[in-house]
Amino acid sequence: MNTEKRPVILDCDPGIDDAVALLLAARAPELDLRAVTVVAGNVGLAHTSRNALRVLTLAGVEVPVCAGASGPLFGPVVTADEVHGADGLLGLPVPEPAFPLSEEPAWDALYREARAWGGALEVVATGPLTNLGVALAKYSDLPRYLRRIVLMGGATDFGNTTPAAEFNIYADPEAAEMVFRSGIPVVMCGLDVTHKAYLTHADIDRIEALGTPQASFAAATMRCGVEWHEKFLVPGAPMHDPCAMLYALEPELFTSLHCWVGVECRGAITRGRTVTDAYSDAKRDPNTELVTDVDRAAFVEAMTARLAVYG
Ligand code: RIB
Ligand code: CA
Repeated sequence: MNTEKRPVILDCDPGIDDAVALLLAARAPELDLRAVTVVAGNVGLAHTSRNALRVLTLAGVEVPVCAGASGPLFGPVVTADEVHGADGLLGLPVPEPAFPLSEEPAWDALYREARAWGGALEVVATGPLTNLGVALAKYSDLPRYLRRIVLMGGATDFGNTTPAAEFNIYADPEAAEMVFRSGIPVVMCGLDVTHKAYLTHADIDRIEALGTPQASFAAATMRCGVEWHEKFLVPGAPMHDPCAMLYALEPELFTSLHCWVGVECRGAITRGRTVTDAYSDAKRDPNTELVTDVDRAAFVEAMTARLAVYG
């Protein structure tokens, strides 16, 4: 087993599923979590920043938390507090932060770490991609210094925020388009795979039975997801952001294909749609590893095992 830790930054908008992804990353033996950069998304930047500090405090891990964008590059601010609660963590009992927010803006931290690691740094992005958009605009050579971006976002043929668009992409389509056309290798964990990476009540019961504060918090966030997603005819709670983190940790659990992806930014009813060209005659140069499937049983085992480390 490769014991060398890989440098990673998690860019997120916690957010209940971002919080679980952060718990997975914080104690992952494979990762050197260099920083957590936060963005407005599910809830406002003040809440997402504080929530990242609170979840790291719950994890017993201190790494720099760097605040970024309080809204998209263009267009209106979009939130999802109806899913995540007004504070972004369903008002669940999570510790107050044990350490302060970093003074360094998210985009500067992304670039500084990318340069420091000389191309080895990976970014796992589980929120709107505004911080990466700003970093790309401010530092034109950033693509030379990022190994890859594993993102939760998009879908091949449906949406959750609109009929055409998934939340993270819809919240900032222009930033997403900048990421897909940046030349940085992108792995896209969209709704196609996250709706297959779901946890049932029985799966959540097993996590809850771990009996730690971290597992109980994770289970509580997932439990609300089961009811919420029954309307999508998904037989459990889709683990959107944990899916991206698990891909970064155990890609062998997943199936993917290499294809071109672009983002519709001007459509009156399709703004924020990820257009994925896996089969057309256009034969555009692939820029993305599109994740299409997951071994759900193995995914559940991996989630459970990685949350068990807090025991
Ligand atoms: O569409 C799901 C995504 O939107 C997840 O990242 C969730 O946290 C929300 O940000
Ligand atoms: Ca998120």
